[in-house]
Amino acid sequence: MLTLIEGLLSEPARIEPKYFYDGVGSRLFELITLMPEYYPTRTEQSVMAVYRQEIACALGEVATLVDLGAGNCQKARDLFASVRPKQYVAVDISAEFLESALQEMRASFPDIRMQSLAADLTQVIDLPTDLGEGKKVCFYPGSSIGNFDPGQAIELLKRMRQLVGQKGGGTPGGLLIGVDLVKENSVLHAAYNDELGITAAFNRNMLTHINSLLGSDFKLEDWGHDAFFNQALSRIEMHLYARRNVTVHWPSGPGWSAGERFFASGDSIHSENSYKYQTELFAEMLLQAGFSSSQFWTDPNQWFAVFYARG
Ligand code: AVI
Repeated sequence: MLTLIEGLLSEPARIEPKYFYDGVGSRLFELITLMPEYYPTRTEQSVMAVYRQEIACALGEVATLVDLGAGNCQKARDLFASVRPKQYVAVDISAEFLESALQEMRASFPDIRMQSLAADLTQVIDLPTDLGEGKKVCFYPGSSIGNFDPGQAIELLKRMRQLVGQKGGGTPGGLLIGVDLVKENSVLHAAYNDELGITAAFNRNMLTHINSLLGSDFKLEDWGHDAFFNQALSRIEMHLYARRNVTVHWPSGPGWSAGERFFASGDSIHSENSYKYQTELFAEMLLQAGFSSSQFWTDPNQWFAVFYARG
């Protein structure tokens, strides 16, 4: 909790995007993906569907598919139509949400051995030790890589490269990853400011989650949603801004002392970045992370790319 409090006390205040995903936040995110303005999910789906066979050929025979940020496992479910691993490891930060999704997956694919792993991708990921030596492929769809700053993204890609690496010369694995691309400002802006206000609810729900973790007294009515494209840094920024002067308090807890933070009307808490890449730059980042080569598929508008990087 210390880093959470440090973030609240920093100037400007910030909360890491992993705090979006309590039970309600995970469900709100599912709703975001259904919003007409939020193009990434359906564009990625269409790229995966159009190039299903080519992608399956590129991956070859997969022994273990490691789904990083599995959520409701729907994307792995779609992939299993053309890529059938022997084992599936679903990794997500929200264990409760993951286990119920995996129960349905087990019923639909009884031939695939399935395990769940509650893990934070910002930390070292310890895969189960009984996966064997067959080819491993990490699956990281949804352009979640965009939620890391480029330097952190390269570190995460390096860890993925290590996860699929083979000790003792076995077939090197790979990484299948969705990447959101730079596009017109109006399209980007609408995607993070949907008319129904689901993205706003997702952003504001983070404060309810923080209250439950810290015992703090954020009041939702005091906070508004703001999202815009920062062209210079090629990223959508999401913020929560104070609608009036507000002082937020939290009591002491294990390892931290009681505290408070004053926000003047208009001050904001930076809650998320979502980087948008050029394909050339992302291919370069994969090389920097230690992958030997990559290829990608994209949609006719070139809004979204699915990369396969070889270990
Ligand atoms: C999970 N991630 C890729 C989403 C994104 O687009 O950056 C999170 C999100 N934030 C607001 N809407 C969706």
